[in-house]
Amino acid sequence: MNLDILKDDAKTEVGSYFVTNYPPYSAWKSEHIPAAEAVLNAQPSARPDSNGSAAPLGLYLHIPFCRKRCKFCYYRVYTGKNSSDVERYLAALAKEIELYAQEACFQGREFDFVYFGGGTPSFISAEQLHRLIERINEHWSWSNAREVTFECEPGTLRKKKLQAIRDIGVTRLSIGIEHFDDEILESNGRAHQSPEIIRAYEWAREIGFDQINLDLIAGMVGDTDAKWKATVEKTLEMEPDFLTIYQMELPQNTEYSRQAKGSGGTSPVADWATKRGWINYAFELFESAGYVVSSANTIVKAVKDSDFYYRSALWRGADMVGTGVASFSHVSGVHYQNADSWEGYLGPIENGSLPLSRALPTTDHQALIRELILQLKEGQLDAAYFDKKFGVDILQEFKQEFGSLEEEGFALLRDGGVELTRAGMLCVDGLLPRFFEPQFREMQ
Ligand SMILES: C[S@@+](CC[C@H](N)C(=O)[O-])C[C@H]1O[C@@H](n2cnc3c(N)ncnc32)[C@H](O)[C@@H]1O
Ligand code: SF4
Repeated sequence: MNLDILKDDAKTEVGSYFVTNYPPYSAWKSEHIPAAEAVLNAQPSARPDSNGSAAPLGLYLHIPFCRKRCKFCYYRVYTGKNSSDVERYLAALAKEIELYAQEACFQGREFDFVYFGGGTPSFISAEQLHRLIERINEHWSWSNAREVTFECEPGTLRKKKLQAIRDIGVTRLSIGIEHFDDEILESNGRAHQSPEIIRAYEWAREIGFDQINLDLIAGMVGDTDAKWKATVEKTLEMEPDFLTIYQMELPQNTEYSRQAKGSGGTSPVADWATKRGWINYAFELFESAGYVVSSANTIVKAVKDSDFYYRSALWRGADMVGTGVASFSHVSGVHYQNADSWEGYLGPIENGSLPLSRALPTTDHQALIRELILQLKEGQLDAAYFDKKFGVDILQEFKQEFGSLEEEGFALLRDGGVELTRAGMLCVDGLLPRFFEPQFREMQ
């Protein structure tokens, strides 16, 4: 595959990030919190799906604990909390869900999908996990959820814990393996080594999870062509149901970003062209084994229908209640975020109120742009979907933007929509700001 149009020499600068939402987070403000409170206290009003059915509802639970902080990680995580801190946090998480269960917006609604993310959900013990679920079930159950995902760091897994994770109804286990080279894992600050990956994976297969996803990162510090290829080949041998490959980003608050700023800004991470080449290598190897590329950073086994349901729902305007420190929510067209400090999160909940810190109500046009840019990351857009849902012909409305993508070799305009080329898929995040309203083009 010819990827010459991607042969720039752009470095991975500090401050790089993926597009995960719209309008960007820095436009969310505390003065809009009343808009979030108002939608929670009213009947649900998310726009129905293009087939007329009500927007699905998801629950995200943020478990912010890790054994070690990886040098590239930018998530809100804690590495020094003791067991009573963990207990206090899990009690608050259950209480937060209880508070949501009382809101008018959720009466009579069940969760269609649940996502335990982190940090490291598998950091907590089997007993803590069972207790958390018992507490939550007193107020809200997810027994009818189509998909329950649980993120794990391999070194935290034991067979008993995996069995507990299965027993609470997890359908997809997501394991952060990142790389198979032990020197690279060690020097990037990962807490696990390769034998723990294999051991955890074998246990998970024995226990029989419906689906297993593996995460890799293209661009860990110290990586080389040979080491990356060996990692991808080893990962394919494991026959995961899903593979997620992140291109290493360097947001402001990582250990590597601090080191880079201290050394005059020299980035320790491979440049973008190298990382894209590595991802393309993985895409091609997995495709030759019958897998399907289902978005800019995901590969699924054989059938696209078995794709990541939570992502598909979120990128089509689902409501999602995000619980835990710093979590993001989207309800009835309003974005909001929880407080991002330990006491800022726990304090309000322990006093019986939600710990909201900033929000942004979205306009109809912003909701359209949001779905358009997120779905573009899946590699294609169906114009009929947008016509039915928003009453807008996106091929006309964004004629100039799609035209520029085609001219640059990143997209093909089809009769009923748009398809990204492989080059477009590999650099999609950089292609999206052209669809933003002008005031948001420079924002993160
Ligand atoms: C919450 S972690 C997954 C669970 C567990 N904490 C772990 O790391 O094994 C989600 C994923 O984010 C990815 N990630 C973290 N920091 C990243 C960065 N700076 N650039 C790209 N991917 C990153 C890693 O692939 C990681 O597996
Ligand atoms: S990448 Fe995962 S294990 Fe590493 S610090 Fe971030 S959340 Fe924790």
